[in-house]
Parts: sequence; structure tokens; C-alpha cells
Amino acid sequence: MTTRVLFVCLGNICRSPTAEAVFRGLRPDLVSDSAGTAGYHVGEPPYGPMQASARARGVAMDDLRARQFSAQDFTRFDLILAMDADNLRNIEAMRPDGAEMPVHLFTDYGSDASAVPDPYYTRDFDGALDIIEAAAQGLAEALD
Ligand code: 4NP
Repeated sequence: MTTRVLFVCLGNICRSPTAEAVFRGLRPDLVSDSAGTAGYHVGEPPYGPMQASARARGVAMDDLRARQFSAQDFTRFDLILAMDADNLRNIEAMRPDGAEMPVHLFTDYGSDASAVPDPYYTRDFDGALDIIEAAAQGLAEALD
């Protein structure tokens, strides 16, 4: 069966849609999606400056729209990747009883960084992309 991967950050307008788009480019054979633990930006496209940095590397994501992570995602996907430790904690707090879905830090798959720092605050969109591309490459090689 096709592996379904969900990338999760806080707002779903910077890090996780970028991870989704980069990973989809590497593994178009798998199902990729993204969500945010917060609902501030539901329905919005990815943040303009993030899109611009991604576009400069050939990554398009203007068709994506933000949605909020929900407990049902624990049954809809095979693997959840959190962008930082706060995201991981917020996801785990919503885990339904009996759900065995693995949740990992995205950076565990192939970056020296221990998290993807939030570029909405750091304004370092290229730095976030460097980390996302390294982790996505590692994840793409790790999955069947
Ligand atoms: P993201 O960045 O989690 O990478 O999408 C954020 C974007 C917006 C907000 C927080 C994080 N916000 O609070 O509006």
C-alpha cells in the first residue's frame, strides 16, 4: 500500500507546506500532505516570502491551502513528521487512545539541525529551506 506522510508545523503556511512540496518532488509515488497545530491561517496559501524562496529553488506550492491538524490524522496517515519539538508535543497531546502512528522529528531523517526553526519569526527562509531539503532527501531514501 502507498505510504502516506503528513508534515506538521504550527501555522501550515511556512515549514510544513514547504516540506510537503519538496518531498512530493522527490517521492511523487507517495501520498504527502501537511497541517498546522494552530488554526490561525486555515484556508490560506503558503506565506508569500516562503513561496518566493521555494520558487527560486524550483519548488512550487501556490496550490496548497492551510488546514489544522486533527486527531483523525492519526488514522489517515502512516507517518507524521513534526518540524520542531513544540509541534511534536502538541501532536502527541492529541493522540487518541490506542493509536500507534509513529510521530518523529523531520530533522531526524537527515539534517544536522535538531529542528526547522520557524522562518515566520527568524525571517531566514533560505536557512529553513536548506534544512527541509536535507531532511526530505533523507526521508525520501528511508522510505520504501
Ligand atoms: P509555520 O510558521 O508554523 O512554519 O507555518 C508560522 C506561521 C504563522 C504563525 C506561526 C508560525 N502565526 O502565528 O501566525
